[in-house]
Formats: sequence, C-alpha cells, structure tokens
Amino acid sequence: MNSRKLLPCLVAVMMAPMLLAHGDSSCGGDEEFEFGPPTGAVCPPEGTTLTFESFVEPFFESYCQRCHSVDVVGDDRQGAPSDHNFDTFVEAKSLRDHIDWTTGSGPDATNELMPIGGPKPTIEERKQLSEWLACDDAT
Ligand code: HEC
Repeated sequence: MNSRKLLPCLVAVMMAPMLLAHGDSSCGGDEEFEFGPPTGAVCPPEGTTLTFESFVEPFFESYCQRCHSVDVVGDDRQGAPSDHNFDTFVEAKSLRDHIDWTTGSGPDATNELMPIGGPKPTIEERKQLSEWLACDDAT
C-alpha cells in the first residue's frame, strides 16, 4: 500500500462532509466535481418578478445548453455530466443548489465555474439567476 497516496485520500474523506461534497466521494475513482460556495442569495420579501420563461430559459439557452441539454449527446457535451441537463423548469428547481454553487451570485459569493468558455453571463444575470433559484414559489 502506497502511504503517500493514501494519506491525502483519507484527509479528503474526512473533510468531505465539511466541503458539502455530494454523492459518494470515492477515492482514486473519477475526480469529484468541486463546487463553489453558496452565494447566500435570498428571495426578496415581495417575491421575484423573474420567471422561468422570461429569464431562466433564455439564460440556459444562451449559456448552458450547448453542453447541458438532452439534445446534445456524446462528444458534443464536452464532458458535461449526462444527469445535468438544463432544459426544463423541473431540472432548474431540482438542481438549484448545484446551479447556485457553479453559476450564481449573491451577497456571500460569485461563482464563475460555469459556463466553461464563452459566452458568459454578466454578474447581474448571475444575481438574477440566484434570486430566482432562492424563491420557492417562483414560476
Ligand atoms: C462548454 C461546455 C459547458 C457549458 C457551456 C456549461 N457547462 Fe456545466 N459542465 C461542463 C462539464 C465538462 C462539467 C463537468 C466538470 C467536471 O466534472 O470537472 C460540468 C459540470 C457542471 C455542473 C456540476 C455537475 C455535477 O457533477 O454535479 C453543474 C451544476 C453545471 N455544470 C452547470 C452549468 C450551468 C448552469 C451552465 C450554464 C450557465 C453550464 N454548466 C455551462 C460543461 C459545460
């Protein structure tokens, strides 16, 4: 057993819960995706005027779907995981933490891990995205 390799691996396993790691953090397997921090975005008291149709869908079309869409397959996905598609309202809601931790912006952090390459959204658009995600009753 190579102890030089084992030690960082053990440390990674022990730290995993603190780092909000998702899924099974297997050692030596596929590299775990490293998310950014939560942005701390909150829903405004009066709710949001942004809707999926008017804002989120065009956002996804412009910045995400060339890799993350059911219509994009194989090499064209450029490595985007097959369980992360941003085509529908339901996907946006169910993956909202992952979206915030890669793409969102708020009082605590701005995450610019996604999209890979251009075109990229502005910070204002990232803020709007996180606001919409933070509003439970956003349509
Ligand atoms: C050029 C292709 C490309 C574009 C455009 C892109 N992504 Fe990604 N995305 C990837 C790849 C590749 C990975 C996997 C990265 C890794 O595992 O290191 C990924 C991973 C992710 C993950 C994490 C998946 C996980 O394992 O949990 C999220 C969330 C994500 N992308 C969101 C987005 C969002 C939101 C957009 C649009 C703003 C976007 N991506 C645009 C290629 C892309």
